Amino acid sequence: MPQPGIDRNILKDQPSILRINDLHLHLLKESKRIEILSGVSFRIRKGEVFGLAGESGCGKSLTALSIMGLQPKNMITAGEIFFRKDSDSGVDLLKLSDEELRKIRGRDMGMVFQEPMTSLNPVFTIGRQIGEVFQIHQGLSYREAKQKAVELLRSVMIPEPEKRIDDFPHQFSGGMRQRVMIAMAVACSPRLLIADEPTTALDVTIQAEIIDLLQEIREKEGMAILFISHDLKLISEIADRVAIMYAGRIVEEAPAEALFGSPMHPYTQGLLDSLPVSRGKPLKPIPGTVPPPDALPRGCVFGPRCRLKTADCEASEPSLTQVGKDHLVRCIRAEEGAI
Ligand SMILES: Nc1ncnc2c1ncn2[C@@H]1O[C@H](COP(=O)(O)OP(=O)(O)OP(=O)(O)O)[C@@H](O)[C@H]1O
Ligand SMILES: [Mg+2]
Repeated sequence: MPQPGIDRNILKDQPSILRINDLHLHLLKESKRIEILSGVSFRIRKGEVFGLAGESGCGKSLTALSIMGLQPKNMITAGEIFFRKDSDSGVDLLKLSDEELRKIRGRDMGMVFQEPMTSLNPVFTIGRQIGEVFQIHQGLSYREAKQKAVELLRSVMIPEPEKRIDDFPHQFSGGMRQRVMIAMAVACSPRLLIADEPTTALDVTIQAEIIDLLQEIREKEGMAILFISHDLKLISEIADRVAIMYAGRIVEEAPAEALFGSPMHPYTQGLLDSLPVSRGKPLKPIPGTVPPPDALPRGCVFGPRCRLKTADCEASEPSLTQVGKDHLVRCIRAEEGAI
């Protein structure tokens, strides 16, 4: 939340970079179609950090993978994902060919994942791997690309970049590897960076460094970030706007202050109450677990775990409804239970 250099009111008037409309994702399994994402919709404005949170298995990564066209082969998508680079009218990513998507990834849209070791190739030097990004996407020569790679390492505060450029990934610490991945992801100044649990494998001090780095890049480059994490505290430190997912749906979406200051969905309230120190109350986990996608309860999917549940909650699934300025909630009792 606290971003000194960013004025939220200015962000509000920015055009959308990404607009997801009614995204559905089905897993095809033994002639069955299992719905994994059900009507996910949100938009990310130019320069905005959009946080996506929720417990493990709620569909955060598959939302990100669908945007990039990297969902598993046995899954099919439906809906619209408009991506707009500048003043053009945008393209529906779900309608592009693999080849067209490949061009957009890495150039207009950067990605960072949880475990940098699996994304870096262990047998090539760091310099070669960064250099390749410039050679492929910007057509630079080997020498120019290497020089750019040194500059890039310097920009993410890797000490002695001229020497470290010839190191292999295992010679870098986890935090350094993640900084390299971020550097590579933003090398071509994409308009959108998708960061899926970028700090989860790192310890807390290194996490803070990565968050600072992302903030810095966003301010310098004006790029938007889709920041995915199950860690609400981390999301509260970086996001302008936040969506909470549960069982493949968005259950609440609001500007960060509103979401953390006056959460409306019992699930969001439960997540905040289960943080180690939350609003002066002790840690209180939400009872039960997330249902698997092929065994969802009737009506509201959060019903079985909800402290406010009544018979009405089983009648039909509530829709995502506007309850306040810019604040959406999927709960028929949201306003009664507001805290
Ligand atoms: N390759 C796959 N094949 C079948 N089901 C999958 C596959 N990948 C994910 N799922 C299922 O899809 C649902 C959403 O998974 P997803 O990985 O998007 O969750 P997530 O919110 O990113 O969780 P985490 O916080 O653990 O990363 C889960 O029920 C998961 O079991
Ligand atoms: Mg995930």
